[in-house]
Amino acid sequence: MTMDFPRRRLLQGAAAAAAVVAGPALLPMSARVLAAPSQRFTIGSRDFLLDGKPLQIRCGEMHFARVPREYWQHRLKLIKAMGLNTVCAYLFWNYHEWREGKYDWRGQRDAAAFCRMAAQEGLWVILRPGPYACAEWEMGGLPWWLLKQPGDAFLRTRSEAFMGPARRWLREVGRTLAPQQVTHGGPILMVQVENEYGFFGNDLDYMRSLRQATLDAGFDVPLFQCNPTNAVAKTHIPELFSVANFGTDPAAGFKALAAVQQGPLMCGEYYSGWFDTWGAPHRRGGVEGAVADIAAMLKANGSFSLYMAHGGTTFGLWGGCDRPFRPDTTSYDYDAPIGEAGWIGDKFDAYRKAMTPFLAPGETLPAAPPRMAVMTIPAFALSESVPVAASLPARAIKDRSPRPIEQYDISRGLVSYRVTLPAGPAGVLEAAKVRDLAWVEVDGKPVGTMDTRYRRFRVDIPARSKPATVDILLYTIARVNFGIEVHDRKGLHGPVVLRTPDGGTQAVEHWEIRAIDFDADGVLPKLAFKRGRNNADKSGAAFWRGGFETARTDDTFLDMSGWGQGIVWINGRCLGRYWSIGPTQTMYLPGPWIRRGRNEVVVLDLTGPREAKIAGLSEPILDQLHRERDLPRPASTAALHLDGVAPAHEGEFAPGSATQEVRFASPVRGRQFCLESLDAFDGKPYAAVAELALLGADGKTIEQSGWTVAYVSSEEANKEDGGALNAINGQNSDYWHTAYSTGSATHPHRLVIDLGKTVEVAGLRYTPRQGKDGVTGRIRHYRAYVGERLASE
Ligand code: GLA
Repeated sequence: MTMDFPRRRLLQGAAAAAAVVAGPALLPMSARVLAAPSQRFTIGSRDFLLDGKPLQIRCGEMHFARVPREYWQHRLKLIKAMGLNTVCAYLFWNYHEWREGKYDWRGQRDAAAFCRMAAQEGLWVILRPGPYACAEWEMGGLPWWLLKQPGDAFLRTRSEAFMGPARRWLREVGRTLAPQQVTHGGPILMVQVENEYGFFGNDLDYMRSLRQATLDAGFDVPLFQCNPTNAVAKTHIPELFSVANFGTDPAAGFKALAAVQQGPLMCGEYYSGWFDTWGAPHRRGGVEGAVADIAAMLKANGSFSLYMAHGGTTFGLWGGCDRPFRPDTTSYDYDAPIGEAGWIGDKFDAYRKAMTPFLAPGETLPAAPPRMAVMTIPAFALSESVPVAASLPARAIKDRSPRPIEQYDISRGLVSYRVTLPAGPAGVLEAAKVRDLAWVEVDGKPVGTMDTRYRRFRVDIPARSKPATVDILLYTIARVNFGIEVHDRKGLHGPVVLRTPDGGTQAVEHWEIRAIDFDADGVLPKLAFKRGRNNADKSGAAFWRGGFETARTDDTFLDMSGWGQGIVWINGRCLGRYWSIGPTQTMYLPGPWIRRGRNEVVVLDLTGPREAKIAGLSEPILDQLHRERDLPRPASTAALHLDGVAPAHEGEFAPGSATQEVRFASPVRGRQFCLESLDAFDGKPYAAVAELALLGADGKTIEQSGWTVAYVSSEEANKEDGGALNAINGQNSDYWHTAYSTGSATHPHRLVIDLGKTVEVAGLRYTPRQGKDGVTGRIRHYRAYVGERLASE
């Protein structure tokens, strides 16, 4: 289907002005289309005010980059029909400036066209231009080229290495979108500065500098910041309006806001569901709780933005990665009321019903537009292939020791490393770091994988009677989008050493490096496809090509469950990444990207398909985990050594969901920390923890970037993602939860964290599982231990 993108300006002139002046106390949304060329949007003592009249914001988030442009209008109509009057949009800096200084606002990236379309559909816009966004997007929206600068702590700080480029970006945003502000006759009501900075830092002058940069860029509407409930106070400054982000307990969120400012109450992100990561169960958000929260916020005269109203798909290579390293799925369905392919159901209806009683006088909701047509595609074969090894550029970069790929101006993709090892006994090849996955061969024979998920940066190397060639193929998946690991440099990081059985180490030097840089939009190199499996045997990394004929161009879902892991292109357009470990097994292929007649499909598969075929299904598969298809994972043989260790502290947590800090009688040194639950407030056998942080003697939180889970006594892995990593990933909304679907172990439960190095621990900060009173797992009595070796393999 085709849609046009009207550039019609809003109706201007005396009639429009008269309509506004004559309006009732609450501005009806029908007046929206009659808006004067410029309006004033201000923040009153208890209301948002549009030309002096209260406006309750019912907003929903949709990222235009995650929705085919041809469908923007359909999704905006759905947002409107659900009962919302505003759409919230992040801008992802790296999407518009993948190469430094080269801005791109064309086609799918046309933010101004998106704003105009929102206005045309009767929606206001809240803009969130960053510079940092988060949003499960590559590097949280920050451009990778920032990482060419040295240092691990300059992003999201006042360092000129960050602020210089950030200011230029904001100026570019202003040039493009300042004319879309309500003060210039456009739909943009408010602009967000940074994103949840309170989760990350505490330099208030950094927030002030970014605020100034946003003003200097030409934004003259109110500026605001958002933070999770428990971080609102931390970075609140009077110059920026604060809103609170949460997925539960609006009363607590609004209370946190009322404590720092007088003004309307607003939830900046209300979670309708949650995102998925590869290898973890699909997540869902309930309906009843959300409906009650939406009604409660509206009743309290509050405003909100639903995150997500429509999540869509992280097409291309734009997916992000949760910390410490859990890459996000391509589907960004989010269990949102408007599903990945724009489908609606009970959740949508329930939300609409919850909002209807709170519409402004005279406001009516349009009917939802019909669903886009769907088709199936019979299974088709990809009968041509070419190995990745044969597709690399001839020219190599030569370096003594491999450096992060950003240093070679490689943005992302496939990187091949070659080095010669001298003859010698068996040993272990070890790099300082490997991001993200790497397959290692010696003289063409696979010897193992390096895998950043388990910090496995070493492989065994067999004995060699003569010099041998080592080939390492590295695949970058996504740069971490959240927390301190956002300084996520990719590639093989030297020094690389060979450890020999006698305890010696030899430097491994003089590398040849060749890369296929997929760049911003998944650019493919010239590929010499041949019929058949070619050299691409079942397990080799290869590109595959095939296609299908169709007379229809309706939506479909490509079933990738027969493949390993990789990337799909359709008619040269990069559709996204897949990984058959799930939980997502299908790839949403929007109808407008299909051609009538012949369509070409190219697949990069790193490990080889079980059968080189793809079919188009009429429904997505978002919830099938197949961990058995994953690369080998080192078996956990961790054992606990708590016997005879005296607790550093023993106590009782406060009930409720608030974050609490505990000081030990005296600081204790150690490399590992163990939290032991003795019982829970609800008397049930489970333990849950949203976040754990440790405090140093100075009372500040101890740096977490080297932390790993050394041992956990139990974790829920089937019904929901209750993985122990959730307790140290910086996100309050997910949590470690002990197992309940397969037998339920009872207290004491133990979680041991390896801190990466020996430190002095003087206390802890505990954030209970969030939610209403009565959620399971809130620990009551507990013990805390600090020691060198509380658990080990
Ligand atoms: C935070 C961020 C969002 C998004 C959500 C999780 O609240 O502000 O950008 O990452 O978490 O989906």
